[in-house]
Amino acid sequence: MQDTAIYVPNPDPTAAPLVDVQDLTVRFVSRDLDIPVVSGVSFQLQQGQVLCLLGESGSGKSVTMRALMRLFPPTARIGGTIHVDGQNILALPERGLRRVRGGLISMVFQEPMTAFDPVFTIGVQIAESVAYHDGTSLRQGRIRALELLELVQVPSARRRLDAYPHELSGGLRQRAMIALALACRPKLLLADEPTTALDATVQIQILLLLRELQRELGMATIFVTHDLGVACEVADQIAVMYAGRFVESGSVVEVMDAPRHPYTSGLLRSTIHAGTKGHKLDPIPGSPPDLAELPPGCAFAPRCHNVEKDCLDGPPPNIILGGSHRARCVRLADII
Ligand SMILES: Nc1ncnc2c1ncn2[C@@H]1O[C@H](COP(=O)(O)OP(=O)(O)OP(=O)(O)O)[C@@H](O)[C@H]1O
Ligand SMILES: [Mg+2]
Repeated sequence: MQDTAIYVPNPDPTAAPLVDVQDLTVRFVSRDLDIPVVSGVSFQLQQGQVLCLLGESGSGKSVTMRALMRLFPPTARIGGTIHVDGQNILALPERGLRRVRGGLISMVFQEPMTAFDPVFTIGVQIAESVAYHDGTSLRQGRIRALELLELVQVPSARRRLDAYPHELSGGLRQRAMIALALACRPKLLLADEPTTALDATVQIQILLLLRELQRELGMATIFVTHDLGVACEVADQIAVMYAGRFVESGSVVEVMDAPRHPYTSGLLRSTIHAGTKGHKLDPIPGSPPDLAELPPGCAFAPRCHNVEKDCLDGPPPNIILGGSHRARCVRLADII
């Protein structure tokens, strides 16, 4: 493999983190609404590590991911700080931001057609991205485009260079989008449900490919999935989001083997994964909260079977449980 970042098999925990997010808040403000969609999110990620974001629909996973690239509509109001590779993302001028997007940070979406322009061939689009970020000619960009399609194991890669996006199958299009995302050797890869639109067998192939590439290229990766099995398979760290907050976070072992927040336990009991074999699924009662009308205390309280009066007093603190394990619940001492 050519021109790749250095592989870091065991990220040094004492090294400065590649990603450092502190107290991130995102609100969407319109004339008569002010909706907090991400609140007080903090995390750090070392080079080569994978963080998986879990949580129900609308919990703020995609907004958190987009914040890292500062991809927001004008109605968004952002607070807190985001540093990636030492760059202060929220303070960067537009020009610097263009270099960061698709250079330092790349994104793989659920639907590849959103990343490709239907009127240009795959080869032209990847070559243009390489030429823009590397300052090379389009001819050299095309050579690298071919290398990238081979890297993501697109069969007959030379021929596919001249294919239009609609001429590829869903799985091949997703591989091509990963090639596009890798075109500029990002240090941070954001993957927002990258396999959800694919059938089960292709999903596995793409996941294995992403994991292999992530390890080979030493990229830090933030991965959004609804699939707990996938999270266990690909992640080093897990963060469970509820109503815009990280309600539980830690290493895969800490969160999956010993979940402490009632929402995490509920997710594990209600979703099919390796640990549910032989157990009846037990859905979480109720539905996710209306973010415009969050209760004053814990947002999960109305659905929680451990709820007590003190849960409604104010936002629960983020309690350190040891190692990297944290959970936001005032009743942790009572919940085994
Ligand atoms: N541009 C926007 N304007 C207003 N509200 C928005 C905007 N984008 C997202 N939201 C709201 O922010 C909240 C979080 O959305 P987000 O897309 O991050 O959820 P998610 O966790 O990714 O959900 P899913 O699993 O369905 O993808 C939702 O309530 C959504 O309606
Ligand atoms: Mg989403």
